[in-house]
Amino acid sequence: MADFIYKRALLKLSGEHLAGDQGYGIDPKVITGLANQIKSIKDKGIELAITVGGGNIFRGMAASTEGMDRSQADYIGMLATVMNALALQEALERAGVFTRVQSAIAMQEIAETYIRRKAIRHLEKGRVVIFAAGTSNPYFTTDTSAALRACEINADVLLKATKVDGVYDSDPMKNPSAERFERISYLDVLTRELHVMDSTAISLCMDNKLPLIVFSLLKEGNMEAVLCGEPVGTTIY
Ligand code: GTP
Repeated sequence: MADFIYKRALLKLSGEHLAGDQGYGIDPKVITGLANQIKSIKDKGIELAITVGGGNIFRGMAASTEGMDRSQADYIGMLATVMNALALQEALERAGVFTRVQSAIAMQEIAETYIRRKAIRHLEKGRVVIFAAGTSNPYFTTDTSAALRACEINADVLLKATKVDGVYDSDPMKNPSAERFERISYLDVLTRELHVMDSTAISLCMDNKLPLIVFSLLKEGNMEAVLCGEPVGTTIY
């Protein structure tokens, strides 16, 4: 057992991460690598739930700015998250990790429906629970559904995996002298409009005192380091 400082974590994965360099869909190499990383921390004793986005398949927000009805676009996005959840489940089980997928939109033939108490029971039994279909409501992002589920299952921490290694004072892709925060308050994230997650998600974490850590999954071993409390990424408190 590693020296994890958290007992139960919720990992928010972006859909884009699953696409890898191909930029669209699910890259089998990426998802297999991810499953192996998760297996290695799972074996060290963490209780882990995952919320996955769907942007590698469909972006509701982008489609709505192009004129598509926002609710309809969001429902399509929610279905995309179900595809990602099933792919992740398959990769995890291939790696030897027990999983359950719970969908916020009932589709019993392919996944359990979300039931909070059952999700907690699965976690206690050592299964990775993958939450799909967001909150089942349009106008809510998968970041918000990750924050909501993390609160509901009494997670000790919300881990947001991104392409960059934390939160910066400006976009590090555009500004080479951008500075990374080691720690920053929720309120500063909101007032400085740092776009870590949407404001609904940040507010939910803030109101429920749920620590949020933004880190990069691209570096092997990062997730374990974060769970051990090492200064990786940015902690929002
Ligand atoms: P415990 O009873 O706590 O051990 O949990 P369990 O998930 O093993 O029990 P259950 O009998 O509920 O589930 C057995 C299998 O059926 C698991 O793989 C579940 O994911 C799956 N399952 C349970 N409910 C549903 C459902 O509504 N839809 C689908 N597609 N699968 C389900």
